[in-house]
Amino acid sequence: HSTKVGIIGAGPAGLTLALLLQRKGIDCIILENRSRQYVESRVRAGLLEQNTVDLIRELGASERLDKEGLEHHGVYLSFNGVRHRVPFKELTGGRCITIYGQQEVVKDLIQANLDRGIEIVFEAHAKHIEGIETESPSIFYQHNGEEHELTCDFVAGCDGYHGIGRQHLPKETYNEFRIEYPFSWLGILANVAPSSDELIYAYHERGFALHSLRSETVSRLYIQVENDDTVDNWPDEKIWEELSIRLGAEGWSLQSGPIFEKSITPMRSFMIDNMQYGRLFLAGDAAHIVPPTGGKGLNLAVADIRFLASALTNWYDNQDDSLLQSYSQDCLRRIWRAQDFSNFMTYLFHKQAAHGSFENLLQKSKFDYISLSKAQATTIAENYVGLKEI
Ligand code: FAD
Ligand code: DHB
Repeated sequence: HSTKVGIIGAGPAGLTLALLLQRKGIDCIILENRSRQYVESRVRAGLLEQNTVDLIRELGASERLDKEGLEHHGVYLSFNGVRHRVPFKELTGGRCITIYGQQEVVKDLIQANLDRGIEIVFEAHAKHIEGIETESPSIFYQHNGEEHELTCDFVAGCDGYHGIGRQHLPKETYNEFRIEYPFSWLGILANVAPSSDELIYAYHERGFALHSLRSETVSRLYIQVENDDTVDNWPDEKIWEELSIRLGAEGWSLQSGPIFEKSITPMRSFMIDNMQYGRLFLAGDAAHIVPPTGGKGLNLAVADIRFLASALTNWYDNQDDSLLQSYSQDCLRRIWRAQDFSNFMTYLFHKQAAHGSFENLLQKSKFDYISLSKAQATTIAENYVGLKEI
């Protein structure tokens, strides 16, 4: 069978692309190798930038987000028990972030796609792509034990870091950059009211901790662990004890409760400096990974899609390929900014060097500078809520 745009992957990138194209009357099909139930329950990010919320609203898929999403107008940054609040409103001209789980975003976007008649083939495993240098590339995939071919005008590789999209980008068309950090995050979800009205990012000499939330009754927290650590090493009491120490501040205490999800995520920065070749275009985690400390991964995926959807629309409406040509360059400015911010936040808040060492004292000085300087606080605030114009 055939379509105009063949999309691999029903994550935030693929799902928003399909909705934007459908609105312009451009046919597309999404191939997703997991089941609907699996992608709708995969626990990942939770922080939406203003731009991401605006796009979901524009797509008419924000009914539940508008009701259940929690707007935050500031964030707490803590260094060995000293806590400093960065307010967004006055530093960014009124922009803010919204807390709403990625799996909720994915559920809402899948429903919106299906309501609008967009075909999502779940449990369709894309195996390889052919003909990206021609005008009708094909995606070969397996579904229900059978082999299929989807012929299209364009292929959108929205299939995440481990997908096949990037593997089909000729190696000589890009440079690759990578940092593997010497620590990971243990993330939990717990049935307990959040102990803080806003997020807390904490450096502690025992390691990083983050207090986030999902609702009035569900908290989301993370702690820095060793790369070879396993969830079996972390019984519930040990997690709460450690979180309580690392997030601690005078006059504040952490409420604990039953933990219903635990997983460990490695931390990496990954980047390629070209996201397209011929009729193949990559977006989201397929092209870049940021460490999660700035809450940028999902937001970058959606930002790429804005450019890709405009470029494809311009091609179909006006036979103009200029935006397709400049797609990588248009995306890369924002991606590099997010790479830098995520790397900065990661080094600022994770334990790397011995307590009292030169590196550690520089880290502390960087933290102190946030409360000393409105310029530094503004730098953090504007990157955290997401720059509007790039
Ligand atoms: P994805 O959401 O990965 O979607 C890609 C889709 O493609 C998947 O559904 C996958 O099943 C499908 N796929 C892959 N290969 C194929 C194939 N061959 N054929 C068909 N389909 C395929 N970001 C944060 O900001 N904060 C966090 O705390 C955070 N935690 C994370 C934890 C984990 C374990 C991971 C993996 C990511 C985390 N992220 C976090 C990053 C954020 O979730 C991603 O940046 C975001 O999901 C990117 O969206 P995407 O649509 O590009 O990719
Ligand atoms: C969440 C995750 C992040 O990586 C982050 O920086 C902020 C919040 C979260 O899951 O809520």
